[in-house]
Amino acid sequence: MMPLDESVVTDGRGSAARDGWERAAMTATAGVQDLFSVRGRNASEARERGGGPGMISFTAGFPDPVHLPYEGVAEATGRLMSTHGQGPLQYGAVRGYTGLLDLLIEKLGRDQGIRCAQENMLLTSGGSQALALLIDLFLDPGDTILSEEPTWSGAVRAFANVGVNVEGIPLDDDGARVDVLEAKLRDLHARGIAPKAFYMIPNFQNPGGMTTTLERRRRIVALAREYNFVIFEDDAYFDLRFEGGQLPTLYELAGGSHVAYFGTFSKIVAAGMRIGWLVADKALIDRLSVLKVDGGSPFAAHIAHEYCKDGVLEARVQELIALYRHRRDLMLGELNERMPEGITWRVPEGGFFIWLDLPAGLDATRILAACRERGVEFLPGTACFFHGEGRRNIRLSFSYADDEQTVRGMRALCEVIGEQLTA
Ligand SMILES: Cc1ncc(COP(=O)(O)O)c(C=O)c1O
Repeated sequence: MMPLDESVVTDGRGSAARDGWERAAMTATAGVQDLFSVRGRNASEARERGGGPGMISFTAGFPDPVHLPYEGVAEATGRLMSTHGQGPLQYGAVRGYTGLLDLLIEKLGRDQGIRCAQENMLLTSGGSQALALLIDLFLDPGDTILSEEPTWSGAVRAFANVGVNVEGIPLDDDGARVDVLEAKLRDLHARGIAPKAFYMIPNFQNPGGMTTTLERRRRIVALAREYNFVIFEDDAYFDLRFEGGQLPTLYELAGGSHVAYFGTFSKIVAAGMRIGWLVADKALIDRLSVLKVDGGSPFAAHIAHEYCKDGVLEARVQELIALYRHRRDLMLGELNERMPEGITWRVPEGGFFIWLDLPAGLDATRILAACRERGVEFLPGTACFFHGEGRRNIRLSFSYADDEQTVRGMRALCEVIGEQLTA
């Protein structure tokens, strides 16, 4: 493995280098700030990724850095350059490199049970751009949408940036509470408000870790038809299932109508490649292709294809499942052994995260401050809510810290919580 390039990696094992947009916001003059769009004005809060040299980071949903496919990608790049000449260095089609689209169509059919053709697909710069494009297609400032809550902090920011009203739907062990969803839809429609979308992460939800049951998936699809909203189905963690059987996607259950499905290579190949995909009805993809002015990176798409083909992706996913299952179990072992009474969590069947519920009297921000002094970081729950809740929640990512750091970091966290409980 090559050493990490600290100018690029902005996380707990690298430097705390700031994102370009944060720097830009800080140096903008007052006069220029007056020119900001609604989105620009909404984008006022810096993002929490954790960081700092020597920190043990349970903060971001970053893949394990040691297991990034350095050798495989280096070889694939060499092969690509010797067989494809300059082609991948040129601009490409907006929908993305057809070789990778075909590889994904086969994978989605085999693993996700999604039948689709190139006309139903768009390559994106990660799941983040897939969501951004769906926001562009459907949402205006002031629109109302529904979302699981808590949810992925990136989605919280994306919806806040555009200025939509978000109605949160709470979750339990079986996924989003469909009884609340239905009551909310009825109530909103009675008030003349028709939510346009429901954002959800059906598998190993970020941050909660739960998986939406088949019964609830069916019910949500039925509600989407009845109340005419689009389900934004974010399946970033689909492949990382440690146990139990896969459930059908909402896209498949809905026969492709009222659902836009998206996924990413960030968690299973390399986040730095910025490769994701969107699957939807042809009419939606046609419009999304017009909104997507940037053709993405044909170079990255070619390398991803060259690397993943001939069963390499499937073998890699199996290795990652074993790695992350082990890390989850290591973290759970420490929690079971050392976490004081009163703090609860669920066992995720896959994904990257364990979500802690803290009892009254504890505050995640205060715990974080004390943990940082001991060199440990996590994501406070507030990043995952739309309106500031989550003070009594902690999201722990088990994907990034190595075994030794995981044990050391969890011991420090459990100690801090113990101290603050008795303070
Ligand atoms: C639920 C969820 N969706 C989407 C993403 C987007 O990741 P990327 O843009 O790297 O594909 C993430 C990353 O953390 C995520 O957790």
